[in-house]
Amino acid sequence: MLTLTGEAAAHWRTLVAHQRPEWPSPAELGDVMDHLATLLPLVTPPECDTLTARLAQAAEGKAFLLQGGDCAERFDRLSTQTIHGKLRLLQRMAVILTYAAAVPVITVGRMAGQYAKPRSRPTETVGGRTLPAYRGDAVNGIGFSRAERRPDPARLLRMYDASRHTLDVLRAFARGGADLRQLHKDNEDFVSCSPAGERYAELAGRIGQALSFSDACGGDPLRTTEVFASHEGLLLDYEAALTRYDPRSGRGYAGSGHLLWIGDRTRQLDGAHVAFFATIDNPIAVKLGPTTTPEQALALIDRLDPDRRPGRLTFVVRMGAHRVRDLLPELVEKVTALGAPVVWVCDPMHGNTFEAPSGHKTRRFDDILAEVAGFFEVHEALGTHAGGLHVELTGEEVTECVGGGAGLGFDDLHRSYESACDPRLNGGQALDLAFLVAEMFNPRTTGAGAPDAVVNAAAWGAGHGSPSVSFDA
Ligand code: PEP
Ligand code: CO
Repeated sequence: MLTLTGEAAAHWRTLVAHQRPEWPSPAELGDVMDHLATLLPLVTPPECDTLTARLAQAAEGKAFLLQGGDCAERFDRLSTQTIHGKLRLLQRMAVILTYAAAVPVITVGRMAGQYAKPRSRPTETVGGRTLPAYRGDAVNGIGFSRAERRPDPARLLRMYDASRHTLDVLRAFARGGADLRQLHKDNEDFVSCSPAGERYAELAGRIGQALSFSDACGGDPLRTTEVFASHEGLLLDYEAALTRYDPRSGRGYAGSGHLLWIGDRTRQLDGAHVAFFATIDNPIAVKLGPTTTPEQALALIDRLDPDRRPGRLTFVVRMGAHRVRDLLPELVEKVTALGAPVVWVCDPMHGNTFEAPSGHKTRRFDDILAEVAGFFEVHEALGTHAGGLHVELTGEEVTECVGGGAGLGFDDLHRSYESACDPRLNGGQALDLAFLVAEMFNPRTTGAGAPDAVVNAAAWGAGHGSPSVSFDA
């Protein structure tokens, strides 16, 4: 395979790449790029095409995407245990959602490459001292010192290595297969121990019956053993250096991960990110925040999916619980009228961030649930498909978001706040979400519609005052 070259491929280099780190030494960066260009890609074009085919099903309502993982992966947190913890949590959620949606769930980690962060502010001030902001382990260190915050291109090689090891572990566990019975048993244990468990018992019982039926038929209807890797394709130098031609088609594929997305801060139509993404054949996504106009969404489709290839383009909407019902319908209507087969995915995290009295960046479980409910309602009303869920989560028992079945409050945040960037759902909160979202799929058969799910969830939320400051990454 060759590194992608040519005029069309290089056009993006002439455009503004927002959020590009200020690499102190272009020569050092160049050396790293040359090195990366000699390395093997981490994923293969056929794997990427498989994910595109799966996502094409999601666009039609015949599959559902579950995408999740850390806001920011960390080099020094990498272990088989943390990787497996996230994978297992996604698989447990997938069992619940597969049953509820009655379609295959496509499991995609925000993993094996999620090392670069866009920031709202270029600097951070602590105790009167101002330094460059932390931009993810791929760029600089989280420690608050000038040396740590200096962008270091050698970190891009560590990102490659960390991503490769993560993919190795994911592939090893995926190859070993997921024992659905065991995943379900773990979910039953959660139901029996969780303060909110009674509420989920009936659904868990029905999932158990369905598994028994499936066993009896000798079938394995859940695609839980297949897992893909995704990350924000923020650092275009890195992405370009790992892009390779597919000998089958002569087309370029980003070799850094199966699915790459463009963040809400870098989706400018005339920017380098959109132009670069147009040159790769992977399935791609764009985050759409509350400032997105329908015209921008349509233009993004024309740039990124001119052939209207099902599964090629996913829109991950993150409007905020209070705005999703107002802002989403027009976007969906106009995109649908265009005949574009995008996958609509709900990110209920990034529009619901606020600062707790302690200063921690947090999110309310109720807001997260309410945004998903609004997203489902909009699609139900328009007759379109709610294609998936994009969440920040970890299998570790962190205390970063408030609410959920265990009723975490602001006072709990200091206990185990580990995130380098945005607050994640912990294992229990993620399973709470899966059980409650399960109720939104088919109100006619579950007897509980989305609005009920929200009202009931609100009853055991944190409920300590209202969001004071809403802020981005
Ligand atoms: C993120 O996914 O961590 C992120 C920064 O999201 P967004 O681009 O939607 O703000
Ligand atoms: Co985030």
